[in-house]
Amino acid sequence: MKSVLEFKARKTSGPKISMVSAYTHWESRFLAASPVDCILVGDSLAVVLDGEPLTFAATPEIMARHIRAVARGAGGKLVIGDFPFLAARRGIVAAVDCAAGFLRAGASAVKIEGVDGHEDVLRHLVQSGVPVLGHIGLTPQSLHALGGYKVQGKGEAAAADLVRQARAIEAAGCFGLVLECVPPAVAREITAAVGIPTIGIGAGHDTDGQVLVFHDLLGLNPGFDTRFIRRFADGGAVVGHGLAAFAKAVAKGDYPNKRETY
Ligand code: KIV
Repeated sequence: MKSVLEFKARKTSGPKISMVSAYTHWESRFLAASPVDCILVGDSLAVVLDGEPLTFAATPEIMARHIRAVARGAGGKLVIGDFPFLAARRGIVAAVDCAAGFLRAGASAVKIEGVDGHEDVLRHLVQSGVPVLGHIGLTPQSLHALGGYKVQGKGEAAAADLVRQARAIEAAGCFGLVLECVPPAVAREITAAVGIPTIGIGAGHDTDGQVLVFHDLLGLNPGFDTRFIRRFADGGAVVGHGLAAFAKAVAKGDYPNKRETY
């Protein structure tokens, strides 16, 4: 998938959209060679790559650097850059600067968490030619306000509020929206209520697509597990065996052999 136009068309034409959150040139070359549709350079990189406890450590500069690396390996696939903590809350000028940095680095779109209080930012970016992907439900940048990593939209009022937010995101002109950790019935309702694709993570299978983090879906994030993650490969075991084999070969003097020596 090369553009947000193709992304939007999938709502009616199918098939469902596959998105992977990835951060490095190395990962994006794997993704370019795969049938995965599009790449999100997520601010989860602060946690997954840097070992930070929260995503707050990501800054527009750090994100732009990773977007550049990913875009160079993406083979023309749609690359979406994630606005980091508070980047959409400093007003329109700061948001424009952040988006400009991302698009100059090679992204074709940006993702922004939340909608209330920054609808003007979403609208301004869209009207400036910057495609915006919304993100509601469990938005990790609001973790303290949400009281931790909790399923959102439980109960009638909370579900209705998420539907309202989804409609506001569509009304602002966003080309799609991520639904994170919401009950499947709420994700289904939102997916039916809006005319833009919904991408779920921990939101059941009735969304228009799914997103997972590269390391999580490939079993490369040892010790991290949560209910919605399926390990599609045991990358951790492959890496572990490879490293053990290297150390053993070196210890025994088996590596390098004659063929591996100049
Ligand atoms: O930062 C990220 O990787 C994300 C996705 C998990 C949706 O926001």
